[in-house]
Amino acid sequence: MSTVTTYNQVQEAAAYIQSRTSHQPEIGLILGSGLGVLSSLVENPTIIAYEDIPHFPKSTVEGHAGELLIGTIRGRAVMLMKGRFHIYEGYGPELTAFPVRVMKAVGVKQLLVTNAAGGINTAYRAGDLMLISDHLNLTARNPLIGPNDEQFGVRFPDMSEAYSKRLRSVAKEVAARHSFTFQEGVYVGLIGPNYETPAEIRMMRTLGADAVGMSTVSEVIVARHAGLEVLGISCISNMAAGILDQPLSHEEVMETAEQVKEQFLGLVLDIIPAM
Ligand code: 6GU
Repeated sequence: MSTVTTYNQVQEAAAYIQSRTSHQPEIGLILGSGLGVLSSLVENPTIIAYEDIPHFPKSTVEGHAGELLIGTIRGRAVMLMKGRFHIYEGYGPELTAFPVRVMKAVGVKQLLVTNAAGGINTAYRAGDLMLISDHLNLTARNPLIGPNDEQFGVRFPDMSEAYSKRLRSVAKEVAARHSFTFQEGVYVGLIGPNYETPAEIRMMRTLGADAVGMSTVSEVIVARHAGLEVLGISCISNMAAGILDQPLSHEEVMETAEQVKEQFLGLVLDIIPAM
């Protein structure tokens, strides 16, 4: 059995979405754990349940609703994923990135991807927001494995600027107007679902990672394959294992997201029109 996504499946999903809305989204947004509140920014939304979209996987994790919103934010047409798919849920990486291909098929040009992540850099604090400058794909998986369909992109996509320098500088300019400073660093994506051991965190710091999470990398690989311009923002929801003398929990991740949401909303509201 092949798990590879076909171009036809993507076209069917895109056609269904287009049949439900007259908006023509240019920007895609993927919201991480606890950051679903960003969906409240979407004006005149068309709301589509994932389960209604042909070939879409279903979301299973707490704190991740399964809805697509298509509407506008400050005059820009967006397609927003409230809830994403993770490899730890049992989906292959190509399925976790399926919605990104659908975004591309409906005309999206830019992707804003957000996540909750553990801080590895000891200068970070829970509640910081980090612009992702680059990533380490340590999932040992890849959404592009299998025959390459050139309609999606080239066989060997370039990843030398996976996270757009231009969009990062736009985000920094917006932050300056808010008297806010982003952290900027390398996100390491693992499959999870357990949080790491302190030894694993020390290893990843040595490898050059600043923050760790269980999402984003397959989505961004597929986005770059599709030629989308990517901006990534991590909410540092907690420090990673072994840094503070305390255990990690999903509750803490959700609580921190709740605390930073006003700041995050304000920034995103100004970043989107400037993208
Ligand atoms: Cl510490 N690790 C991983 N893998 N994901 C996280 C996290 C840590 N904190 C939030 N998400």
